[in-house]
Amino acid sequence: MNLDSSEKIKEMDPQGMVEDLDTFPDQCKEAVSLGEEIKLPYDLEEFDRALVTGMGGSAIVGDLLARLLDFPVDTNRGYYLPKSARPDDLLIAVSYSGNTEETLSALKDGQRRGMESLCLSTGGKMEKYCNRESIPLVKIPTGHQPRASTGYMLFPLLKLFDEAGLAGTIDFAQLNEEVEGMADSWNSSVPTESNEPKKLAEELAGKVPVIYGTKGNTSVVAYRWKTQINENAKQPAFWNVFPELNHNETVGYELGSELMSNGKVITLKNGLEIERNELRMKIMEDLFTDEGIDYAIARAPEGDKFTKIIGQVYFGDYFSVYLALLNQVDPSPVELIESFKARLKKEG
Ligand code: F6R
Repeated sequence: MNLDSSEKIKEMDPQGMVEDLDTFPDQCKEAVSLGEEIKLPYDLEEFDRALVTGMGGSAIVGDLLARLLDFPVDTNRGYYLPKSARPDDLLIAVSYSGNTEETLSALKDGQRRGMESLCLSTGGKMEKYCNRESIPLVKIPTGHQPRASTGYMLFPLLKLFDEAGLAGTIDFAQLNEEVEGMADSWNSSVPTESNEPKKLAEELAGKVPVIYGTKGNTSVVAYRWKTQINENAKQPAFWNVFPELNHNETVGYELGSELMSNGKVITLKNGLEIERNELRMKIMEDLFTDEGIDYAIARAPEGDKFTKIIGQVYFGDYFSVYLALLNQVDPSPVELIESFKARLKKEG
């Protein structure tokens, strides 16, 4: 598969995942206006914490908020809220389809506990529930995969928390300009020789990626890269974070070189690592060299925290889609998730 052939890309990507990525800067801009338009019946600064509940491509929004806001955020992935959930928390339920059973169940759990809620969805059962219970809903555009709608789900919340003074200072115009610059460098019309995500995809093709981030910094990016490789490129990928991985996973490299002959470690860096973790990464690089483990470093774009985190997520999105094309698979459909959900519905 030639990543520089626009005809071949169109053939392999009939639902336009690449186009969704190329237009991500517009998506983010549109999403900021969705945040401006919604009127909330409460003040965000009244809450002690935001508890984001969702699954998969919708739940990642909670992890991103936790990394980016100057406000406590936890993410819940499951049917019920954690024991710690209480009315002093704002419950934010995110479901692109509005029909994910775990998210709907957790939303109802929050209502039972007397929590205030905010929902984000394209519609579905979630919209009906919001209408019935008078819960504010940010209605996002339909017609994309949930994981290709991160901008639609993240930016309204960034805008709302920014307005409430709980996000530090986000310069949305500047951020958008920077994301546009990334799209200019990484889009499918830029040839492989000068296109970093295409280059990394070529490097990773046929290998099992192991993505390492650091706790509280790039852990969200590492997890996103892993899940995007799974869902877009339809192949296994693994992830872990410093410093925890030095307390268990590291030992696996003792006999690893043979078993890892098809694996490649990617360490994510963005310059915001604490010093001890930087040193840990350096020591691991030496260990990989000694043990014959294939590894590479992926650096985030330059800029502030928002540019680095969102930019490196965006890079991973592009890279995983290019990897899908090299794997000769359509990046959009997630047939195994759909058939799993269908069987669950039939049998339950
Ligand atoms: C599909 C995807 C999935 C979904 C998940 C939850 O693109 O990313 O991980 O996000 O199955 O569905 P929604 O987002 O509709 O609640």
